[in-house]
Amino acid sequence: MRKILALFLLCLSVQPLLSAAETTLPHHNMVVSAHPLASQAGMQALQQGGNAFDAAAAVALSIGVVEPMGSGIGGGGFFLLYIAKEDRYVMLDARETSPILAGHGEVYQTQSSINGPQAAGVPGLLAGVDHLIEKYGRLPREMNTFHAISLARGGFAVDKHYQAVANWRKKALQNNMARHIYLRNNQVPPLGTNIQQKALAETLVRFAQAGADDFYRGETAGRLIADMKRDGGLIREADLAAYRVIEREPVRFFYQDFEWVSASLPSSGGLVLAETLGILQDDDLSNMPKTQATHLLIEAMKLAYRDRNAHLADADQVNIPDLLHAPRLKKLRQRINSQHSTPSSSVQADPSGAAVDTTHFSIIDQEGNMVSATLSINYGFGSAYVSPSTGILLNDEMDDFATKPGQANAYGLVQGKANAVAPHKRMLSSMSPTFIVGKDKTMLLGTPGGSRIISMVLLSGLAFVQDEHDLTTNHAVQTLVNQPRFHHQYLPDVVQYEAGAFSADMLKSLQHQGHQLQEKRQYGNMQAIIWDKQTGKVTGAADSRGQGSALHAQ
Ligand code: DON
Repeated sequence: MRKILALFLLCLSVQPLLSAAETTLPHHNMVVSAHPLASQAGMQALQQGGNAFDAAAAVALSIGVVEPMGSGIGGGGFFLLYIAKEDRYVMLDARETSPILAGHGEVYQTQSSINGPQAAGVPGLLAGVDHLIEKYGRLPREMNTFHAISLARGGFAVDKHYQAVANWRKKALQNNMARHIYLRNNQVPPLGTNIQQKALAETLVRFAQAGADDFYRGETAGRLIADMKRDGGLIREADLAAYRVIEREPVRFFYQDFEWVSASLPSSGGLVLAETLGILQDDDLSNMPKTQATHLLIEAMKLAYRDRNAHLADADQVNIPDLLHAPRLKKLRQRINSQHSTPSSSVQADPSGAAVDTTHFSIIDQEGNMVSATLSINYGFGSAYVSPSTGILLNDEMDDFATKPGQANAYGLVQGKANAVAPHKRMLSSMSPTFIVGKDKTMLLGTPGGSRIISMVLLSGLAFVQDEHDLTTNHAVQTLVNQPRFHHQYLPDVVQYEAGAFSADMLKSLQHQGHQLQEKRQYGNMQAIIWDKQTGKVTGAADSRGQGSALHAQ
């Protein structure tokens, strides 16, 4: 993999070197997350003397409590870090692994990979958070866990976003523990209902005291396994004991004088970004008619997603071909017809439109440390299975594997053998926590949204690097985060778009070029920060599609 990236960097090596020498450090600490209570938890960690990594731990633990439909300690994710004093980027891979008992996925021929305990991969979140605190943080684990424990004990109020996901997942939530905690009389709770998670609070207390060891080898492990055995889950002691958070090199490439630093395998995010932009590296997208640039982007996305679906997977278990080889990218560019859409080989079912699960947060501190993290339990409320003795809501990340190669998963992704289920393998992800690093300005961004995560990061990233204006006003960052989106993932062979993404004229031209267009309801929930490195000003924005908040303080 390193070889592949080196090649790509080489082919664009005329780029100027980005020097940290003349940068002005951020004037403020800033936390942007999908829930105000989680942003507050992060900000408090910073005010107590913690750094961006402490804040990230506090946010990761708290957001799983107050946004249980999106992430939590029953899931996993990717933390992209920049450690300022070492001038080093690293990605913490806290992605779930497949339990041994899931074999090669035979179980999913007859059972669901979405609902129920058998849909859960081995959670990675606590291994990731503990590593973050121990290796990079400054505060003790107890302090970073405190907010999450109080929120789980004291509760949080149901809002309209919670209601929307609970309504969508109401049927799956009709099991003993889940309905007791997350519903009221088996129905979506009224606005303002207080949701307490007492058993989860106790599990978090054990984590605060004993660290990840409790979860993977201690009392919580014992409880979780007993629940799994009784209720039909596949995770066993050996799976928990074998789990490791892995430090990985992020994907890094240059595009338009900016270095893009993004998630590496087992996330497909960085490579799909690199391939899409690599195909278009010689096209001056900002100086051509918008319809033409859009057409090229759609065609390049289509090719990059095709490669994603066929070849990308856990690189520790599967050989990944060199998708970013310069001559290959050139050939792909030549295959794009500049006038017409090139059809994908066949048309598949329309994916679900929901994107209100999974979560992203971005954090920067005054020392210049940065965190961009996307965390998930996959579907809304994950597998909807809560382990009764621990209060942990488990993920359904097994559906991110090609559980039935050739058939679409929950996001309409039709993936191949490379991403088939295998013991302790990590399922391919689209989560793309990203930094876009320039000489004068840097952006931290990411979003939930299943397969559409990558195209959302691509479009907002492009808007960031192409814009010559002052992007560091609140309004400008907000506009960048809110901008309407479009997406193509090879199969189904359609351009999905939000209202407002295309003018009436553009819609006509795209149709004329042979694109099949499908309007979708709003998707994604981006949380971004821009740091102006000349002045030290930091501005952040939480996506208006969600309810997140951007907080800053000295
Ligand atoms: O890792 C992935 O690609 C998915 N499990 C992410 C799920 C997601 O973003 C759901 N949000 N709508």
